[in-house]
Amino acid sequence: MSMAARTRAQALTATVQAFVAAGVDTATEDARLLLRAACGGLSRLDLAMAPDAPLTRADETRLASFAARRANREPVSRILGARGFWSLDLVVAQEVLDPRADTETLIETALRLCGDAPPRTILDLGSGSGAIVCALLDEWPQARAVAVDLSPHACLATLHNLERCRAADRAFVLRGRWGEALASGGFDLIVSNPPYIATGDLAGLDPEVRLYDPVLALDGGADGLDAYRAIVGDLPRFAAPGALALFEVGIGQAGDVAALLAERGLAPLGVDRDLGGRERVVAAHWPAAPLSTL
Ligand SMILES: C[S@@+](CC[C@H](N)C(=O)[O-])C[C@H]1O[C@@H](n2cnc3c(N)ncnc32)[C@H](O)[C@@H]1O
Repeated sequence: MSMAARTRAQALTATVQAFVAAGVDTATEDARLLLRAACGGLSRLDLAMAPDAPLTRADETRLASFAARRANREPVSRILGARGFWSLDLVVAQEVLDPRADTETLIETALRLCGDAPPRTILDLGSGSGAIVCALLDEWPQARAVAVDLSPHACLATLHNLERCRAADRAFVLRGRWGEALASGGFDLIVSNPPYIATGDLAGLDPEVRLYDPVLALDGGADGLDAYRAIVGDLPRFAAPGALALFEVGIGQAGDVAALLAERGLAPLGVDRDLGGRERVVAAHWPAAPLSTL
């Protein structure tokens, strides 16, 4: 005798319980998302209107796989292979940082500071999934960009997402160590969300980050500032006169990063906070004339 199929509501309850037991903070929200995906992409409304509809065997198989992965603390965006960022739907690749909502602050800062004068050329150092460069090129259809990352997985992900956003014809993706791969500069806007976690803090990160985001995207050295020092030291080579530089920073790092920029002759333009109220983006301006002529 075959067992009656579970209803959506029953499957949801069991999945939430499994996630709570695994220590997942967002158990209900994640269970809903994964159930909807497992059932072939149900809308929120479908789920709300028909909670008693039965799961098919294929739905159950998919849900079992998704739920086991989430209970192992794999993020939903990695399980589904996609995440919304700004106005875009990005592919989330293995071995590449899962872009964060906090990084949208940098896009807001760029749009606010550039106003009616969009940059013609953008440099994104440590492009990862391509979240930043894709969002900026999508906002500014006349702009062109170079994206650099040391990780070959990240370079492929950037390229893939640029293609999805129909911006690949306006961008070059280079594999290299920060600015080393660049022969010359002249960029109007330089953006970076570099690794900024202090090495000693890596072991204490949530499993979702520690087990699934690549260490190359996280480890900022002893005080978390190694990448900023390397990039800022090279800025004069690739900034156009008057260029804008925007850096995402970790908690408590805004003052140190602003000081590093000031040491290289950039004028501070302030610090923007993320939705949680934390200082998240440091902005600075390159002098309007080359330093050598000042
Ligand atoms: C925090 S992630 C940011 C990814 C993406 N820009 C975002 O905001 O989601 C930092 C990125 O810097 C890259 N990276 C680390 N060290 C690098 C280096 N020396 N040169 C170039 N890229 C590097 C990592 O591979 C990773 O993709």
